Amino acid sequence: MSKSIFRRKSLDKILADVQSGFSDSEHSGSHLKKELKVKDLTLMGIAAVIGAGIFSTIGTASFNGGPGVTILFVITAITCGFSALCYAEFASRIPVAGSAYTYAYASFGELIAWIIGWDLLMEYAIGNIAVAISWSEYFINLLEGFHIHMPRYLTMDYFSAFKGHEAIQQLTASGHMADITERMKAEALAWSSAPGIGGVKLIANLPALIIVALITYLVYIGIRETKKVTNAMVMLKVGVVIAVIALGFFYVTPANWHPFMPNGFSGVMKGVSGVFFAYIGFDAISTTAEECENPQRDLPKGMIYSLIICTVLYILIALVLTGMVSYKDLQVGDPLAFVFAKVGLTKISYVISISAVIATASVLLIFQMGQPRIWMSMSRDGLLPKAFSRIHPKYQTPSFATIVTGFVVAIPALFMNLTEVTDLTSIGTLFAFVLVCGGVLLLPKTEAVKGKFHIPYINAKYVVPVIFVGGMAFFWKPMIAMFAAENSHEQFPIALFIILSAILTVLAVVKNLSLIPVLGLLSCFYLMTELGYTNWLRFLIWLVIGLVIYFSYGYKHSRLGKEVAS
Ligand code: ALA
Repeated sequence: MSKSIFRRKSLDKILADVQSGFSDSEHSGSHLKKELKVKDLTLMGIAAVIGAGIFSTIGTASFNGGPGVTILFVITAITCGFSALCYAEFASRIPVAGSAYTYAYASFGELIAWIIGWDLLMEYAIGNIAVAISWSEYFINLLEGFHIHMPRYLTMDYFSAFKGHEAIQQLTASGHMADITERMKAEALAWSSAPGIGGVKLIANLPALIIVALITYLVYIGIRETKKVTNAMVMLKVGVVIAVIALGFFYVTPANWHPFMPNGFSGVMKGVSGVFFAYIGFDAISTTAEECENPQRDLPKGMIYSLIICTVLYILIALVLTGMVSYKDLQVGDPLAFVFAKVGLTKISYVISISAVIATASVLLIFQMGQPRIWMSMSRDGLLPKAFSRIHPKYQTPSFATIVTGFVVAIPALFMNLTEVTDLTSIGTLFAFVLVCGGVLLLPKTEAVKGKFHIPYINAKYVVPVIFVGGMAFFWKPMIAMFAAENSHEQFPIALFIILSAILTVLAVVKNLSLIPVLGLLSCFYLMTELGYTNWLRFLIWLVIGLVIYFSYGYKHSRLGKEVAS
């Protein structure tokens, strides 16, 4: 068994399977339509990236880090850049729909492939829960602008309402009435006005459910329609982001940029989850490989172009945002709209709210489209039931998987809280990046082929040891202090990171590893350590549940397993 769970699919086999249309009776003729070119892919990448992160989670990250959050945008962009190059290498070698899942199947074998497929659920489905919640927040603000008021208890999750209610009770009892925020009041109102019996109340985020249902329908009816809608939405949101930057610069007060890091570097790093969340998505276009005209040439370009464009926009937005108002004011759910309202431009603030609604809807669209395609790949391999790879005869989309995705996202979106889902998405996605970067190191060396993307080879042995020794020399004092502290068990992620870095450094020297994937692995893993012990624990529980499912279903039904046995 230990050997068979690491059974690997060769690149030739993966490509032959797709070419034959998975020619068993269940999957025959299951080709997807080839519609996408480099421009569509770049736009799709931008559609997936610019969304809840830049319109929402950047607020708290700026509050914690001050103007220095710009540095975090640069660090995160570099980290994502390494990963994008690794994704691009895989996409040019394995132009098949499953993204990191298929890449892991080829490099690490079936068990890790399953783990990553399961983990991608976190990036796509849990990520979309976060986006739907954020969409709902902006949408409700917009309705309020039109004087349409939904019942509060249908606009948020149960626990937020409960926590707001409790917080107000405590603050009132202790006489700290001044600390009661508008948000707490709205939450408490939802709690007190909700129908129900005793503690069991009807409180749910209805707009989040409705938008997921609408988007799922759009994805269900087809890639052509999805492409048109995506392109239009992207043009609009990029236009608005550029306008915000251009106009915002006139309202910058340079004094707001001092001090640049009011809470030090650790304050900046508190924003990792929110800022990284803002970048997630450039990788999602790799799920459309089978719908590209020339995936080996166009997918790498699409990913890299979209990442570069978003990075430039994000850095400028971060500078504008922290320059227009004091970072202390930025702990809000709608920071971009907020800063313009704050400098007296209410109409502009309103336009931003409308575009946030459109921007976040387009992110939903891409991820709702990506998730079923990963399930489709896993089902083709026998790791999930066959229904997941069923293609709709008329729309030619993975119909059953699309509907399941709709439910998996829409139902939790009714009840879950934004911060928790954002953190889980970020840690899950970083883990996927770690495996993709690691996977590139395991790929067999090939001759460069014209028209296909290849990561330039630089020998890691000259750079990585210097970084490792430099890092240890610089950080040894704070590290000793950390491990000596009372809650030292919470340092488990950083301890793991140090061990992994040491091993990688040795391997880099002994095996002449390629520098870019090694740096990608190290930087993604480092950002994971910044996400804290509780998120690691939740993530590990998620992985254990995935393993239980694999061993009770996937392991027995694996197509590769059956082929090896026969
Ligand atoms: N990057 C995507 C967003 O910010 C997930 O909404």
